[in-house]
Amino acid sequence: MEENQINVMPRIGEKAPEFTAVTTQGEIKFPSDYKGKWVILFSHPADFTPVCTSEFMTFATMEKQFNDANCRLVGLSVDGLYSHIAWLRTIKEKIEYKGMKDVEVKFPLIEDITMEVAQKYGMMMPGESNTKAVRAVFFIDPKGIIRTIIYYPLSLGRNFDELYRVLLALQTSDEFGVATPADWRPGDDVIISPAGSCGKAQDRMEGKEEGLECKDWFFCTKKLDKETVLNKIIKK
Ligand code: BEZ
Repeated sequence: MEENQINVMPRIGEKAPEFTAVTTQGEIKFPSDYKGKWVILFSHPADFTPVCTSEFMTFATMEKQFNDANCRLVGLSVDGLYSHIAWLRTIKEKIEYKGMKDVEVKFPLIEDITMEVAQKYGMMMPGESNTKAVRAVFFIDPKGIIRTIIYYPLSLGRNFDELYRVLLALQTSDEFGVATPADWRPGDDVIISPAGSCGKAQDRMEGKEEGLECKDWFFCTKKLDKETVLNKIIKK
C-alpha cells in the first residue's frame, strides 16, 4: 500500500461491509451469518506476537460472557490460515499467562493475507505499519449496522472489560431508550433524552416528571437497576 493512501473507512451508523472469508472455523459470510446477533469484529497485527497472544487468551477466556450477551467474536490478521492454526495450537499447548492456561480459541480467526477485508474496514494504517493491521474493534448490531469503532496502536493491548462494558451500554441504550454517562456500568443511573420543548424543560426543572433527577433542564438521569438491565440482556 502506498504511504498516505487514504481508504474510505466504514463509519458508525453505516452497514457493515460484506465479505466472505476463510477462517479457523471454516468459511464465513459476513455479516449475514450473524444476523440477529451482535458481533465484535476485531483485528490484531500478527500471529505469534506477545501482545496479541495476551489479547487472544483474554478474549477467549471471556468468550462465554460475550456469547451470553448475544454477541459473537470474530478476529482477523494479515496472516494465512496455517499460521493462525499453528499459533492457536501453541497458545493452547504451551502458553500460560496471568493464571490462564490451556486456552482454546473457539471463535473464528480470518485469514487476510490479501488485506482485502482489512482495507475494507480501514484496519490498515500506513503511518503505523504497511503490513500489519492495527488493533481495530467494530461493534456490529443484529441488523448489521456498525455501532461503535475503537482503534488502538500496535503496542497497546486492549482492555476487554471495557469492550464488554461498551457492548452492554449499546444494548442498554437500545432496550431502554436511554443514553449512558461517563464510566457507566449496569446499575448506575442512565440519562434520558433532553427536553424537546420549553414547556418540558420547565416541567423537569419543577420536578413534575417523576423518577427523574435533573442537574439542569438538559441533563436528567433516572435509576435503572442492575438486575433489570442484566435480565434483559444476558441469556444463559
Ligand atoms: C504484539 O502483538 O506483541 C505486537 C505486534 C506488532 C507490533 C508490536 C507488538
